[in-house]
Amino acid sequence: MHVLVAGGAGYIGSHTAKALARAGHTPVVYDSFEKGHRWATRWGPVVEGDLADRARLLRAFRDYPIEGVIDFAAYIAVGESMRDPEMYFRNNVANTLTLLGAMREAGVRRIVFSSTAAVYGTPDRSPIPEDHPLRPDSVYGDSKLMVERILGWFDQAHGIVSAKLRYFNASGADPDGETGEDHDPETHLIPLALAAADGKIPHLSLFGTDYPTVDGTAVRDYIHVADLASAHLLALDYLIRTGQSLTANLGTGQGYTVRQVIHAVERVTGHKVPVIEAPRRAGDPVELVADPARARQTLNWTPTHSSIEEIVATAWAWYQRRPSQNA
Ligand code: UFG
Repeated sequence: MHVLVAGGAGYIGSHTAKALARAGHTPVVYDSFEKGHRWATRWGPVVEGDLADRARLLRAFRDYPIEGVIDFAAYIAVGESMRDPEMYFRNNVANTLTLLGAMREAGVRRIVFSSTAAVYGTPDRSPIPEDHPLRPDSVYGDSKLMVERILGWFDQAHGIVSAKLRYFNASGADPDGETGEDHDPETHLIPLALAAADGKIPHLSLFGTDYPTVDGTAVRDYIHVADLASAHLLALDYLIRTGQSLTANLGTGQGYTVRQVIHAVERVTGHKVPVIEAPRRAGDPVELVADPARARQTLNWTPTHSSIEEIVATAWAWYQRRPSQNA
């Protein structure tokens, strides 16, 4: 099967392209390379194009017998989204609408969409099931929720079925070391803690030590990117098998505090992480942990790489060999 992977040169997209190829499919990576990396595209044909470019998308749909789309192409920085809503709504919502319009015109009727735990906002219970109220606190989270809603209408109006996958904290790297995380600027906890352990940055700022948790720091559900990738293949299979749309959380159901993650980084690297305790970061909820029962039941999905040790060990291995460190 040929699958168009929009944003396939990015972090989760490249792992999913590899998983598709391994399963015998052809990932056709569609990426503007504004954020994506050439080194992350080694598992199939590459089409350089923007999501806003309907003609380019239609050409890709003509050039390859695409049976489904997996869409990772989006801006992901919560803080930046609050400073520039137009940029986020244009890229994440308007451009995804262009993709959907091109799919409709080309007769491609299945899409797996990258959504996020940020659609829940500050949750009123934990773990969070999919039917929890949707009250995003950020422009980023709302941009993803808007697309979820658009997808619902496209199913009803055009029979385009969709899997909306709400990721919790994507982390770790390809266990074979062929791809991994490389954001610029980096804002995520694990790569920054690794950089601090390695002495590349002077310290890690620990945002908030007065949360009502076991050690005062915020709790997150870290899910290995290879487990996310396998969920996308199962979701595509589900769309083909059932012809029904789906919304599912992707997390482990197990939370770790920021301090617990820092300790894991110290154990794996053998280096101390210099930490400066800082105030809470605006918009950070105290705890975000998935109820992953639906993905387990409907997709038969079980994370197999998501122990905190494997997440940190694969991230550390990647950190030491990632191409941009020599740039
Ligand atoms: N943290 C620090 N110091 C840092 C970076 C992070 O203490 O330098 C803390 C954060 O405050 C948070 C935890 O580490 O408590 C995890 O932070 P990340 O930035 O790694 O991840 P987030 O939980 O903020 O963000 C993730 C996804 C977003 C998504 C969000 C949902 O990366 O795309 O979950 O709220 F929107």
